[in-house]
Amino acid sequence: MTETLLVTGASGKLGRAVVHHLLDAGHPAGTIIATTRDVTKLSDLADKGVVVRPATFDDPQSLLTAFAGADRLLLISTDELSTPGKRLVQHTNAVESAAKAGVKHIVYTSMPKPEPGNAVLFAPDHYGTEQAIIASGMGYTILRNTWYQENLFLVLPDAFKSGTLYTSAGDGRISHIAHADCAKAAAAALASTSNENHILTLTGPELFTTAEIAALASSIVGKPLSVVNLTDEQLIGGMVAHGLPEPVAKVFTSFDINTRQGGFDIVTGDFEMLTGEKPRPLKAFFEQVKSQF
Ligand SMILES: NC(=O)c1ccc[n+]([C@@H]2O[C@H](COP(=O)([O-])OP(=O)(O)OC[C@H]3O[C@@H](n4cnc5c(N)ncnc54)[C@H](OP(=O)(O)O)[C@@H]3O)[C@@H](O)[C@H]2O)c1
Repeated sequence: MTETLLVTGASGKLGRAVVHHLLDAGHPAGTIIATTRDVTKLSDLADKGVVVRPATFDDPQSLLTAFAGADRLLLISTDELSTPGKRLVQHTNAVESAAKAGVKHIVYTSMPKPEPGNAVLFAPDHYGTEQAIIASGMGYTILRNTWYQENLFLVLPDAFKSGTLYTSAGDGRISHIAHADCAKAAAAALASTSNENHILTLTGPELFTTAEIAALASSIVGKPLSVVNLTDEQLIGGMVAHGLPEPVAKVFTSFDINTRQGGFDIVTGDFEMLTGEKPRPLKAFFEQVKSQF
């Protein structure tokens, strides 16, 4: 029997891509539930026969109705970072409601090595959600997504303008993954018929230091780019001087601290195990987007 699959945050970039993967793979539209805070954004999916329901993790009452009838549920982490701790409350509401609604298996988008000690300021949201999922009694697949390759758009355009990339990551290494690969993997995990529990870390194929990322980008884009290593305080100060609110600068700098401390120093074959495909290399990403730098 075809299982009913539910995707939260379905109007977001990841959620929308996951729903399209499920449809493309032939999963019947009527057995896909897409939830969102704003159903008007999903009229295109409703037109295809996908069951579109309103749900916000801030309102646990709405979630039981929204999740009713789902066998497997993809919980996409929210982008709520303005109030520390709020995101964990949202996710915990979603996990508890999924268990109450009878969901058998939950898939969650986490981050690499989120255990206590991770320097990323919002890592406790992900670790706390993972713990709530493990305690819930549902089967689970936790997808620890490494930072998207597309996140490099946050720094590289300005870096190419000035010719300098500032970092406090030192020689720490990271293996960015394509956003599209995260969507592919999430769709595969959701549509799987296995109820085994897994904690998987999704990475690109290779690790790079910041200097190596800059050298690769520079060679493909054809513009010079030098790397300047700063202290964390200098990096925060520089971002604030360029107009970033200090709390946001601290979050971004915590990514560099985590890289320097080895928190992203991991490459796995988990993406290939889930999808049967190779993840997109960073080089291919730069080749695709080089005209934008
Ligand atoms: N690995 C990385 O590098 C990286 C980078 C950025 C973000 N992320 C994480 O990955 C998630 C998905 O990425 P994306 O590219 O799809 O981001 P996105 O397009 O910004 O989507 C954010 C998602 O959060 C959902 N959301 C926000 N508040 C919510 C609430 N109160 N209740 C229910 N859902 C809520 C939104 O759902 P609706 O609008 O449909 O309600 C939307 O799907 C992000 O939210 C973030 O946690 C990871």
